Amino acid sequence: MPHLVVAPFEKRRLDALVQEGDLCTFRAEAEGKSVELIGVRDGEGEFFLELKERPQEWIIRADKITRPLDANRIKKVLASLAAEAELEVIHSNIRLSPGKPPVAAEFDKSIEAFERAEFPLEKVALEVGFGSGRHLLWQAKEHPATLFIGVEIHTPSAQQVLKQIEIQGLRNIWVVNYDARLLLEMLPSNRLEAIYVHFPVPWDKKPHRRVISDAFVAEAMRVLRPEGILELRTDSERYYRYALEVFSRPVKADFRVEKNRDLPVVSKYEARWRRQAKDIYTLTMRALERSEPRRAEYRFDFKAPVDPARIASLPEKAIVESDWFVHFGTRFRRSDGRGGVLECSFGSFDRPEHKYLRYDEEGRLEYFPSRPVATAANYAAHQQIGALIHG
Ligand SMILES: C[S@@+](CC[C@H](N)C(=O)[O-])C[C@H]1O[C@@H](n2cnc3c(N)ncnc32)[C@H](O)[C@@H]1O
Repeated sequence: MPHLVVAPFEKRRLDALVQEGDLCTFRAEAEGKSVELIGVRDGEGEFFLELKERPQEWIIRADKITRPLDANRIKKVLASLAAEAELEVIHSNIRLSPGKPPVAAEFDKSIEAFERAEFPLEKVALEVGFGSGRHLLWQAKEHPATLFIGVEIHTPSAQQVLKQIEIQGLRNIWVVNYDARLLLEMLPSNRLEAIYVHFPVPWDKKPHRRVISDAFVAEAMRVLRPEGILELRTDSERYYRYALEVFSRPVKADFRVEKNRDLPVVSKYEARWRRQAKDIYTLTMRALERSEPRRAEYRFDFKAPVDPARIASLPEKAIVESDWFVHFGTRFRRSDGRGGVLECSFGSFDRPEHKYLRYDEEGRLEYFPSRPVATAANYAAHQQIGALIHG
């Protein structure tokens, strides 16, 4: 990770840069910790650096919450900061590396893109946890008029499939590196032809982590068109029995069970189970009726002005409900007294949001670097944050 190790210096130099306003946007001190935030801006936007003080040397690097993906952006900003604040650099690793061309970046979709997604094709299908991507890539090749959205929580698998999309010249796959359960919530109602869940992790010891649940099936039935299917394949008899129970509950759907049905493509996991001569169960659930439209947009803003005294008195302990939580972290105050910044984690336990809450001298409060993803858990947590801040 790009960083600078510098000799201790007068922080007035940073304050002068904040006043100039080109590179630095603010400096803020943490309450009770020897760490500071420095807001920085480049041609692409704003992010934060973290300054950690050690007795002989100070370390400056991008902070975890706002860190841009492009390491060269961080290196350039660190180099400008060192030059403009005339820092004595003890050592650093900010030599620019030749940027690798983005891999099929066009088909790499962020979760935020689904807040107002327009699908380029009439037919849309989803694969949950595509792993090596064999089934996803095969489906996309077989059905060029269908858009296949693949959602995979494991980043290297998502990157591998993006490479394959480029190599195979496919144009009808979107890859989302996120938790499928949250993505499903963001999709419009009555839109998908099919949802494939092949060989999900059985999580026998931690069943609450399973992808298939009552909530998942309810959302799946909402996003499927009437006659659309949810297809689960598993080699685990225990998971099959569990899913059978979950699938039997909705009344506006029907389902069928098949044992050892062959598909034209064999996924990596399926190949392994076949070698072990294991039975493979397929459960297919069919949506029968149209569903209500997805809930109208969630709003993630705050009333102004907020009272800094209330922010200072926010609870230290996490607030934990059954489906969501809120936890306030380190609080930072701007060195020029013009507001502050507060770390905040919240939302669902599986995929929490880590953001800053930033307020200015007029008491305007916003999430930084971006609004939370519009899910029910995030919204419930946001309402709790609002209630604590506004009283
Ligand atoms: C056992 S592998 C099966 C992969 C592939 N479907 C196959 O048949 O070879 C399960 C995959 O689901 C992914 N996964 C687990 N939980 C997930 C979630 N909540 N959202 C998206 N992907 C998930 C894992 O990262 C893993 O790649």
